[in-house]
Amino acid sequence: MMGSSWWKVAAAAFLAVAGFLLPVDADETCRTGAAYADLILCVVTSQYTDKEEVVLWMNTVGPYHNRQETYKYFSLPFCAGSKKTISHYHETLGEALQGVELEFSGLDIKFKEEVMQNTYCEIEMDKAKQDAFVYAIKNHYWYQMYIDDLPIWGIVGEADENGEEHYLWTYKKLEIGYNGNRIVDVNLTSEGKVKLMPNTRIAMSYSVKWKKSDVKFEDRFDKYLDPSFFQHRIHWFSIFNSFMMVIFLVGLVSMILMRTLRKDYARYSKEEEMDDMDRDLGDEYGWKQVHGDVFRPSSHPLIFSSLIGSGCQIFSVSFIVIIVAMVEDLYTERGSMLSTAIFVYAATSPVNGYFGGSLYAKQGGRRWIKQMFIGAFMIPAMVCGTAFFINFIAIYYHASRAIPFGTMVAVCCICFFVILPLNLVGTILGRNLSGQPNFPCRVNAVPRPIPEKKWFMEPAVIVCLGGILPFGSIFIEMYFIFTSFWAYKIYYVYGFMMLVLVILCIVTVCVTIVCTYFLLNAEDYRWQWTSFLSAASTAVYVYMYSFYYYFFKTKMYGLFQTSFYFGYMAVFSTALGIMCGAVGYMGTSAFVKKIYTNVKID
Ligand SMILES: *[C@@H]1O[C@H](CO)[C@@H](O)[C@H](O)[C@H]1NC(C)=O
Repeated sequence: MMGSSWWKVAAAAFLAVAGFLLPVDADETCRTGAAYADLILCVVTSQYTDKEEVVLWMNTVGPYHNRQETYKYFSLPFCAGSKKTISHYHETLGEALQGVELEFSGLDIKFKEEVMQNTYCEIEMDKAKQDAFVYAIKNHYWYQMYIDDLPIWGIVGEADENGEEHYLWTYKKLEIGYNGNRIVDVNLTSEGKVKLMPNTRIAMSYSVKWKKSDVKFEDRFDKYLDPSFFQHRIHWFSIFNSFMMVIFLVGLVSMILMRTLRKDYARYSKEEEMDDMDRDLGDEYGWKQVHGDVFRPSSHPLIFSSLIGSGCQIFSVSFIVIIVAMVEDLYTERGSMLSTAIFVYAATSPVNGYFGGSLYAKQGGRRWIKQMFIGAFMIPAMVCGTAFFINFIAIYYHASRAIPFGTMVAVCCICFFVILPLNLVGTILGRNLSGQPNFPCRVNAVPRPIPEKKWFMEPAVIVCLGGILPFGSIFIEMYFIFTSFWAYKIYYVYGFMMLVLVILCIVTVCVTIVCTYFLLNAEDYRWQWTSFLSAASTAVYVYMYSFYYYFFKTKMYGLFQTSFYFGYMAVFSTALGIMCGAVGYMGTSAFVKKIYTNVKID
């Protein structure tokens, strides 16, 4: 009885959450052409009949130098056209989180109907309004609009050379290209420079021209892509470079390990043949000595297994989202990338539970419910905590980035009603299917003392050095990803990203295996945390790189932009670090198991 009602609640909650992710009113959304990823509810139609209404949506306005700092278009004292009858726009969760704020412009535009230049409204300029415009012009504000999902950017105004006089562009000249019954191209030209003076009336005008175009509907986003930037020689070269590094590293690792391991095995089996007397005199050394300790549970197994579980989940999310992005061209839809990522994150929760739960069980942990909670909420808490903090600043600055309350509730619902139950399923599966500690060697009751060793064999040093090569294999890609996130470039070369992810994983695993081999050879058995951290230290280098990027590649300023930048960069780096750490640990743990399986322990 109890059980069945529980499932009903869960199912209802899941549907409610799915409702948040998808537009509520499919019909309406399809009609306005803003369909959600044509996943489930409606297929993108956006076909018009002659004289059908075409909606010009005003989105945001913000400084050119930080694409992520945005405010509502009408937060500047612009005026809207007189037309009011427009259905309300339903936004998706991804859009809400990214600060998309579509508001109707009030401009009367009909499909294939020319509009001569005419005034749609007047701004009565007073001191306060003028100050607002001057501030925006000084900070190079751009505004963004949408017609039929096609983004349009326009500049607010211009200052003269001395920066004393400020001008507003008042005339929006729209040229819309159509192919059959679809809109395939939009150009905006700003004209009509008017000097800002108090106590004047400034007339805002627009005109619309329709042009036949040969652009295919499927290709209409191509003009926003920047092949000369993303497919620059440097990008190809860096991929090639990393690829060579992978081949070199894999070759090196396998050669060293094959040779040294074969030697080690030969040495160990020779010692095996000696009688007890000789063996006591013989100098036994190397990784075999710690066979009674390598499979000792790590310190803090609860945190450790939660980190590994979360890392595996982040890896699967990245992998799936990149594949979806490659197949689906997600950049053509506002916010759909983020919606997809949240959806995939929720759906891959069992992965987290499985790996975290089974590792915790193997390490003999007993408080598995606590582990599950920590594992499930570690990443969401980190992301939400940062978002919450930045939200406060955003509210203070009235940025459109401030996340609406309803959206926060939706995110909490996803955490409790989707992520947690799915995590539970994964944890139970993990504990039962692979929770047995089937290690090749027994763990001694008393831990072996760790001998003194050279300074560069200390775990702390290994951890610091471990991240350098993985970082080296990705930092050019980081430049492209940062640029598309913080500047006006649309990232679309997801094939590159996939390659880089694969390369990163291979390099990370190779590096951690080598590190672990050295550590175990120095008869230090604390390899679990060391392998995790030596891979995770990649994140520290990425974060340091983001400082370089901030100071030399962006022109951001002010508290809001700075905290926004470094806050989200910290989240990104941490997630990357946990992912690399988990990948490194998984690879190393397979390696450790393998070498101790093959050696004879007496
Ligand atoms: C928009 O501008 C581009 C480049 O100047 C031009 O090739 C295209 O035909 C224009 N489209 C329309 C609809 O005017």
